[in-house]
Amino acid sequence: MRFTVAIDGPAAAGKGTISRAVAAKFGFAYLDTGSLYRAVGVKALEVGRGVIDPVVAAQLAGNLSQTDLDRDDLRTAMAGQAASKVAALPEVRAALLEIQKTYARRDGGAVLDGRDIGTVICPEAEVKIYVTASDEIRAARRHKELVQGKPELTVAQVLDDLRARDDRDAARDIAPMKPAGDALVLDTTELSIDEAVDRAIRAIQARTT
Ligand code: CDP
Repeated sequence: MRFTVAIDGPAAAGKGTISRAVAAKFGFAYLDTGSLYRAVGVKALEVGRGVIDPVVAAQLAGNLSQTDLDRDDLRTAMAGQAASKVAALPEVRAALLEIQKTYARRDGGAVLDGRDIGTVICPEAEVKIYVTASDEIRAARRHKELVQGKPELTVAQVLDDLRARDDRDAARDIAPMKPAGDALVLDTTELSIDEAVDRAIRAIQARTT
């Protein structure tokens, strides 16, 4: 059985939480595609000693290993910024395309979250959800996650970081972040996690029953 749930949206809108919950509910596999770009970004920074070389980044994208994806520094703000820089490179996106397309159509159902899942990776996805929330709420949520490892971090810094990333992701020429024409837009600003997950589940159930 092939069934793809495409979950896109800006940084820290709640895509990961919703994706994991619906994958568990329906027994689908889950791929956090942002982690691919984060792994490439972090490694490209390392290899270039702080400078990202597009050719190196594309090579890294074509040779990602499980160890690269298991690094524990992928969720930092620095990794997020590096990810959005390499994500604007066509060669990097091309190198990561096939693995995502194959994952999306795997047998047994799949949930993928990212920026271009419903528009580029799997335009034929059975369910497309574009998860969003106000900038302030997104910054507050991400701050709560990151402040544990970095106590001096302020909400204002997180807000600046998210906005810079969103602007870059939405303005790039290739696979810009935007809702697919047929996506359900789920604004989680005033929703609890349970409410947001519930709406996503209902959208999927509407296609499965
Ligand atoms: O978790 P968060 O929403 O903050 O970010 P993420 O999903 O881990 O993605 C990190 C960065 O990777 C994004 O800012 C995008 O630049 C890039 N990305 C992308 O271009 N396309 C995807 N399908 C997923 C992520």
